Amino acid sequence: MAESLLTIEGLCVRYGGIEAVRSLDMEVATGETVVIVGANGAGKSSVMNAVMGMVPTAEGRMTFDGREVTSMSTADRAKLGIRISPEGRRVFANLTIEENILAGGYTMGAKDREASVAWLFDTFPLLSKRRTARAGTLSGGQQQLVAIARALTARPKLLLLDEPFLGLSPVAIGDTSAAISVVQAQGMAVLISEQMARPALKLASRGYVLRAGALRRSGDVAEIRELALSEDYL
Ligand SMILES: Nc1ncnc2c1ncn2[C@@H]1O[C@H](COP(=O)(O)OP(=O)(O)O)[C@@H](O)[C@H]1O
Ligand SMILES: [Mg+2]
Repeated sequence: MAESLLTIEGLCVRYGGIEAVRSLDMEVATGETVVIVGANGAGKSSVMNAVMGMVPTAEGRMTFDGREVTSMSTADRAKLGIRISPEGRRVFANLTIEENILAGGYTMGAKDREASVAWLFDTFPLLSKRRTARAGTLSGGQQQLVAIARALTARPKLLLLDEPFLGLSPVAIGDTSAAISVVQAQGMAVLISEQMARPALKLASRGYVLRAGALRRSGDVAEIRELALSEDYL
């Protein structure tokens, strides 16, 4: 495996008395795409949000790009190159597509930000055509593309996608997969969580299966696909 970009050791996430994630070890290499598979409530979002620093790490240790980030704020993690497209693809509904994408570049200087937005509109013509449309008026698939584009504005090293395919039509799943392929071609690492793992498994090289907050299995996509099939994650 290539050099490790994200290393998680013994991660525990708790909400009051609820233990959502227990002693999880995980790794994402530079430029690698990894999938986290698990049923509703398995702890996928808790892992994603802990990596972004949006929920605290109760126990364990996390390093990113050679630095310990365990108790770092979300803003500082963003500066180091981590971005998230959160569950439910929460775009700014009252802002236009263009304003959403600009908002993703809040850590950048104006010039870099403009260049990045131009690159994104080049890369995603579907968004370019409707750049002045309010994000709230878009379909679920288009909103997912906006959420991904917004997360890409600052060219992160690691993109977290929390259930990007949930509730999308087959066409929108195809568009979202194509957008993720663009991210991969840029050399960025991607961590995708999914309940219905089929489209994500096509994009990933390795995966982790979570059950009730604990690691059930990890392995290459073929192994994960086999387990997912037998346990109804597909
Ligand atoms: N903010 C919260 N407060 C209390 N319990 C939570 C909270 N968020 C998640 N949980 C609980 O933590 C467990 C894992 O949830 P989550 O990480 O959202 O799983 P998934 O994303 O796999 O559906 C579930 O039992 C869920 O009910
Ligand atoms: Mg979730």
